[in-house]
Amino acid sequence: MIQDGSLDRTSSLGAMYDHPLGRDIIDKLLLQLGRSPKWVDNFVIRRLPLGVVERLGRRFTGDGFMDTLFSLLNDVSESPTRTSGPVTPHWWKQAVFYQVYPRSFADSDGDGLGDLRGIIDHLDHLDDLGIDCLWLSPIFASPNEDNGYDISDYRAVMTEMGTLDDIDELIAACHARGMRIILDLVVNHTSDQHEWFKEARRDPEGPYGKYYILREGSPETLPNNWASYFSGPAWTWLKDAQRWALHLFAPGQPDLNWDNPAVRQEVADIVGWWLQRGIDGFRLDVINFISKREGLPEGNEFVGSLMEFAGVEHYFHGPNLHTYLAELRRDGFQRQGEAKEAPGHDPMAVMIGETPGIGIETGRLLTAEDRHELDLVFSFDHLEAPGKTRWDDYVYDLNHLKAYMIQQQSRLGSGDWVSIFWENHDNPRMISKVNPDPLYRTPLGKALAALQLLGRGTPFIYQGQEIGAINQGFEDISDFRDIESINRLSENHGGPVNIDVVRPGSRDHARTPMRWDDSPGFTTGEPWIGFHEHSTGYTVAEQREDPDSVLNFYKSLIALRREHSALRLGDVRFVFRDRRDYFAWVRELDGESFLIEVNLCARTINRPHHSTTQAPILTTGEYGPRLSPYEVRVHRVLD
Ligand code: NOJ
Ligand code: MG
Repeated sequence: MIQDGSLDRTSSLGAMYDHPLGRDIIDKLLLQLGRSPKWVDNFVIRRLPLGVVERLGRRFTGDGFMDTLFSLLNDVSESPTRTSGPVTPHWWKQAVFYQVYPRSFADSDGDGLGDLRGIIDHLDHLDDLGIDCLWLSPIFASPNEDNGYDISDYRAVMTEMGTLDDIDELIAACHARGMRIILDLVVNHTSDQHEWFKEARRDPEGPYGKYYILREGSPETLPNNWASYFSGPAWTWLKDAQRWALHLFAPGQPDLNWDNPAVRQEVADIVGWWLQRGIDGFRLDVINFISKREGLPEGNEFVGSLMEFAGVEHYFHGPNLHTYLAELRRDGFQRQGEAKEAPGHDPMAVMIGETPGIGIETGRLLTAEDRHELDLVFSFDHLEAPGKTRWDDYVYDLNHLKAYMIQQQSRLGSGDWVSIFWENHDNPRMISKVNPDPLYRTPLGKALAALQLLGRGTPFIYQGQEIGAINQGFEDISDFRDIESINRLSENHGGPVNIDVVRPGSRDHARTPMRWDDSPGFTTGEPWIGFHEHSTGYTVAEQREDPDSVLNFYKSLIALRREHSALRLGDVRFVFRDRRDYFAWVRELDGESFLIEVNLCARTINRPHHSTTQAPILTTGEYGPRLSPYEVRVHRVLD
């Protein structure tokens, strides 16, 4: 329980920082403002009453900010407990996941679009790599306004990608190799082509009208100031229904009304239906957005401008979020009938939430083992440097990632577990963010692999990372396909189109086809999005043959992880924490211990003296007193 009861204007800033959500909010504000969290650790600052903070900040925050904050914080009545003891060795803590973006992975029929048979044909690649579980971005029926994140039928496969028979075959092929497979559950919203929405439009007063967030009113007056993530307001006027429909994303992605028990039951039924087909779990799209504050209040403008989207404080950690997740776990993810921990049979299918805006403590509230909500979350605070957004053109300093990883681990108990990822289909390539100089592409790709695969948590590799994929040389507006980029490009208020506003952060960088080999490789037809990166040496075919390739390094690290439980479940202890550009940690379990070192910069650096005796296992440089740019070294610690 939170000890001091509810927070009000007489509570101190320190009390807010001791509250799990309060801490995350303060950390997030500081991150967005590019300030250090150390700022709050000051004795005087901690004692400031929140009423005083409100007065000092009112010039920026406007009225109502504190009241919104209190309603957010006082909804949370518990802190996650920080337990100690052995870690439960669930398979998903030990697994290496691999995200496939099916549209761009492999095209089997020459229509230029990746498909399920393409994935089946390339399972050897994933098996060779040592992958334990695949995650497929959406493959369900969809008009593809947002590449499948707009689903019109949750029990059908998108025609272009194949059939239910194909998915059954893929599930069976994965399981036959001892691999699991999870799908993407997009249930904050559906497509506007879903039968439920069509019915809601036809009869907004009928049962399906209550499946969505529809509001009466006049077409001139928006119900509130909430912004869509894909530009413009989060509301569309439905002329036929004479209602506004809420859509946090595109107009074709209306938000479901999770406060309606019938909607929650539908979602649980969909999950159960796929479990019966043998699916091992789901990644749940923007799942922390499902519970909206009652009355859908106006978003605070200060928060809106800081976070780029007005209204977010009313749904990123809504009042019923935890209840709805626990219910979905129980009613959907628990396997019916006979169960044992094995692919296709786990008693509890894995439940991984994509949770934008969720910080470390709130992440723990969502995943702590004894709370029975999610197993893992993806939060995103580590993906940009302080004060930066995805759209900024800047160099990402790996020392920030180091600070984040140390901070995160220091806050976890034995009942907590985290995901580790640098890339996905919504983000540019990490190598390009850190250092686009081709000279460092391979060593940097390997350094990122070591940070991910030997860190403490579950790694999620995004397709292409294993061959050192980088950003694309997009040159023209016609090169882009993504709704987010295209809307942003056209937002230029009458000014000339300037692709620099999307080039650094466009999601299309990660969505160009997988580079299997130098010939078309991905397809025999015309790919749905062009390749704009043709460097030699960075295709799967080339890297397979090269013992020093990024691909072979991934393979070695994954094999090492498989061999030693200390590298999967072991504790982590960071050493020489304050040494800039140098990152070293020890993983330990049952008397077995490993030291991992990574040079975080493009310069050669001195290696500090370690007092332990070590036996080297691998290096990407040469053993010696110095570490070459981005060098990785792994040693076994002998005493
Ligand atoms: C997050 C997904 O990862 C992204 O690709 C999508 O556009 C939004 N959610 C909306 O579903
Ligand atoms: Mg195809």
